[in-house]
Amino acid sequence: MKKFTSVSDVKNLQEIIKKALQIKENPHSETEKGKGKTIGLVFLNSSLRTRLSSQIAAQNLGLNVLTLNAAQEAWNLEFADGAVMNGDTVEHIKDAIEVLNQYCDIIAVRCFAGMKSKEDDVNESILSQFEQHAKVPVISLESATRHPLQSLADCITITENWKEDRKPKVVLTWAPHIKPIAQAVGNSFAEWMQEMDVDFVIANPEGYDLDKKFTKDSKVIHNQDEALKDADFIYVKNWSSFDEYATMPEVKENWMLTGEKLKNTNKGKVMHCLPVRRNVELSDEVMDGENSIIYQQAKNRIFSAQAVFSEILNEIN
Ligand code: CP
Repeated sequence: MKKFTSVSDVKNLQEIIKKALQIKENPHSETEKGKGKTIGLVFLNSSLRTRLSSQIAAQNLGLNVLTLNAAQEAWNLEFADGAVMNGDTVEHIKDAIEVLNQYCDIIAVRCFAGMKSKEDDVNESILSQFEQHAKVPVISLESATRHPLQSLADCITITENWKEDRKPKVVLTWAPHIKPIAQAVGNSFAEWMQEMDVDFVIANPEGYDLDKKFTKDSKVIHNQDEALKDADFIYVKNWSSFDEYATMPEVKENWMLTGEKLKNTNKGKVMHCLPVRRNVELSDEVMDGENSIIYQQAKNRIFSAQAVFSEILNEIN
């Protein structure tokens, strides 16, 4: 694996899931693999799980870890090509990446959608600069349109929780939120589910359809109860409108996932990438209930990251 920014960088999804599950059994089986190598974890946005699980994964592989909380600790970055930097920005992203090239053998970056320009976000205006200027492998820690390490952890979690000899029904359901949220997690989950042997359905209100580039021919239903019927896995996530970019069209029905709604499912396991707004996206009863596999999902972020870092190390060692 030369880079990891989407599912298309994975040669064989089932193989990497298997590898991640083996790592989970024995996380310290490759402690020498990253010896003498450095991974830079660059965060242009906040994080709990991605930061910590990536650090644990890298340490388990013997990598040196540099974590840069760029938004808080670094110079104010300029992203525009050709900018006359006579304002608030102090360092151009191109220069920052060139310096990271001097210090790191792998660069991992978190760069969320700015939610101001649809064109910039759709074109991955920041991640693309890392891909263009980095001279070492680049890993996405969530970009404007995708969250691949999360999606791999989601695939690992579904695999662990499915032992029946039929395809599980997996429903990605939109949930309410108090402010506009990017589509990255939903997009990414849709892309990865299309590579899994599952019956995949997306449920969202009218006006909230995700970009067809990611959903392709996945079934989209605008009635949550209909979508949830007999679901084996329910992935709860908010996103803002893609068509009327980054807005929140009014939704009259209550889309918060509750215990009552779960009764309509096949004892469906509940997933969420976290952080979650309790009693807005899903109820306390669901979050703390026996159907929730959300903390297991968070734990699997370690093994998702470790499997990917290990594959990248195969390339550069
Ligand atoms: N799910 C996830 O990416 O969590 P963080 O934003 O806390 O990293």
